[in-house]
Amino acid sequence: MKMNENELQANLRLLQEKFRASGQDMNSYLQGLMHSNYLTYWDYIHLDTLLTLQQPKTSFPDEKIFILYHQITELYFKLCLNELEQIPERSSDADFLLSRLKRLTAYFSALTHSFQIMIEGMEPEQFLQFRMALLPASGFQSAQYRMIEIRATPLQNLLQFELRESTEAAGSTTQLLENIYWGRGAAELLTGNKTLTLRQFEGKYGAEFLRLAEEMKGKTLYEVFQGLPESDRQRTDLREALRTFDRQVNIDWPLMHYKSAVRYLKREPEDIAATGGTNWQKYLAPKNQMRIFFPELWTEQERKEWGRH
Ligand code: HEM
Repeated sequence: MKMNENELQANLRLLQEKFRASGQDMNSYLQGLMHSNYLTYWDYIHLDTLLTLQQPKTSFPDEKIFILYHQITELYFKLCLNELEQIPERSSDADFLLSRLKRLTAYFSALTHSFQIMIEGMEPEQFLQFRMALLPASGFQSAQYRMIEIRATPLQNLLQFELRESTEAAGSTTQLLENIYWGRGAAELLTGNKTLTLRQFEGKYGAEFLRLAEEMKGKTLYEVFQGLPESDRQRTDLREALRTFDRQVNIDWPLMHYKSAVRYLKREPEDIAATGGTNWQKYLAPKNQMRIFFPELWTEQERKEWGRH
């Protein structure tokens, strides 16, 4: 880019003002600039580090696909959280909400479609062997997945289905978290006790979930929408975007995920146990979980048939 002398002087003056305002000497910074290197792509995105983060536990080549795809998913979850975190800050701006919802649905659409990589992309013989080296770890322990849920809707909507309407389960945030669907779902098949996978998960993230749930009171995506003026709440584009997000997170993605469990773990006469120890056939099917972030945006019939189509 060509810059004439006047522009250069103007920019230098602006820079000088900036440094003066914070009590800094611009000349020293300019000298520093003389010695600093140009930025490279690989340093900027920490590519070398990123590509060292795939460390298989076995020598089956398909294990790398499993690790990489989980990492890709976690990065998409991080993209989602990046949007969700901004929403409470602009809670009265319906256009902003819509623009962020469009990003969220784009991310989840990519996640849902790419899940085919898990369903078709690994040899079952390899999967069934390398998974044994991963016990008792499970995608169940994805904290970002839960944070998306906690930011999307009040905890009441995330209770185990049977408890959702009951006032017994309601109460303090701690009480609500005790009855959250995932805490109830991860019980040992024989004893009904919490699985080791769940105990480890709660040990690491329990306090963080509690803090986040407290912080999100009245500020979840659903509550931000509910707090908008009636004219905004009736906007078709906004309602459609919310419904799409709800369907993607609570039906489309879980269905693809469920299909992967069926592909690898369904066996006659007896299914294979999940690494996280849940009754996965029952637990993972969206029609059993009946998780709905924004209940008022669905008809009674739609809610009844949740995840059945
Ligand atoms: C072959 C691929 C996969 C299989 C067979 C599979 C299997 C399972 C099973 C059986 C569960 C239930 C918990 C348990 O008992 O372990 C589970 C939970 C979960 N997995 Fe996967 N999974 C796969 C890939 C993934 C991927 C790529 C992700 C991305 C992060 C993921 C994220 C999750 C999450 C978030 C849960 C909790 C779901 C819930 O609580 O509703 N899984 N998975």
